[in-house]
Amino acid sequence: MSKPVNILGIETSCDETAAAIVTDGCTIRSSVVASQVDLHRKYGGVVPEVASRAHIERIYPILSETLSMALMGPADLDAIAVANQPGLVVALVVGVVAAKSLAMIWEKPLIAVNHVHAHLQSAMFDSRQIELPAVALIVSGGHTNLYECASAVDLTLIGKTIDDAAGEAFDKVATLLNLPYPGGPSIEKAARQGDPKAILFPRSMLGADSLDFSFSGLKTAVLYHVRGQDMKGASRVEFMSSREIADIAASFQAAVIDVLAAKTRRAADQKGARTVLLGGGVAANSALREALQNLCDTTGRTLCVAPRSLCTDNAVMVASLAYHKYKAGQFADLTLEPKASA
Ligand code: KG4
Ligand code: ZN
Repeated sequence: MSKPVNILGIETSCDETAAAIVTDGCTIRSSVVASQVDLHRKYGGVVPEVASRAHIERIYPILSETLSMALMGPADLDAIAVANQPGLVVALVVGVVAAKSLAMIWEKPLIAVNHVHAHLQSAMFDSRQIELPAVALIVSGGHTNLYECASAVDLTLIGKTIDDAAGEAFDKVATLLNLPYPGGPSIEKAARQGDPKAILFPRSMLGADSLDFSFSGLKTAVLYHVRGQDMKGASRVEFMSSREIADIAASFQAAVIDVLAAKTRRAADQKGARTVLLGGGVAANSALREALQNLCDTTGRTLCVAPRSLCTDNAVMVASLAYHKYKAGQFADLTLEPKASA
């Protein structure tokens, strides 16, 4: 039996400072996530400089906690992995500098990971055998991507949003409805009390074969709904009953999910996929998980979905993907830089 591979993963791409140690890509030895939601709530969104400063303060205590939680020291580690793209450069740089420092001081190989590909990896976390070909839907605050997957490290981007990401649309509509930040969980909670058929919001499908997404028209339709068609009135949200707000939330959520499910089906049909993977922060949404499960049940496919604990940003997904890169000999060097886009 080959020696187990222990990888320390680091994640600082947006507003979570996270570190984790994962053995052989699938056994979590420790995982620490420090959310900055409380710091950004009063601004209604992530402020890059605030995020960066919080990452700087938190990264080394979190790394110490991650090692002690795993009962491990530097000698037990086989590599240091970091998400270096895509994300906020001022946030990513904190993780990249920490990872490069540790790789140099502890004389370990360095592995660079794409944050969105790491989300995809978390969709494979509970499933050792994936029947290929597979398509993956990754829905987060910054991305809405469809991939064709030949393996964990062989991914082809086949669709993406041309404007807002799905999570971004959830966050912006939550702001319009005066629901608390972060918007996704707030909309989901409000939607549970509402009727998804109350308002028929638009479902933008783009061209007949298109695998791209557009959510800006939907967001504008919600804006018109709360301000009136002429857009001259102030927002009526303050005067709406909680039932009316719940109906808007449920109808908006249904429109997003209909589009995500229809495009995923289109991609799976076009690529002859046997398996559908689902990951990213928005994949925590129960209605989306159910819609993709129904899609797979009715079309004879298998759904592999990230466990809820690994949907939003974390470092387990970074260390887990890094294992496959370690096996494939894909290492970075100390010139590694953070990059805003992939
Ligand atoms: O993957 P993630 O943690 O960070 C990025 O890489 O962007 O995703 C965060 C996004 C936010 O837009 C958040 O509102 C959304 O995921 N989100 C949800 C839910 N939980 C988080 N959206 C819908 N329903 C949820 N339950
Ligand atoms: Zn993310």
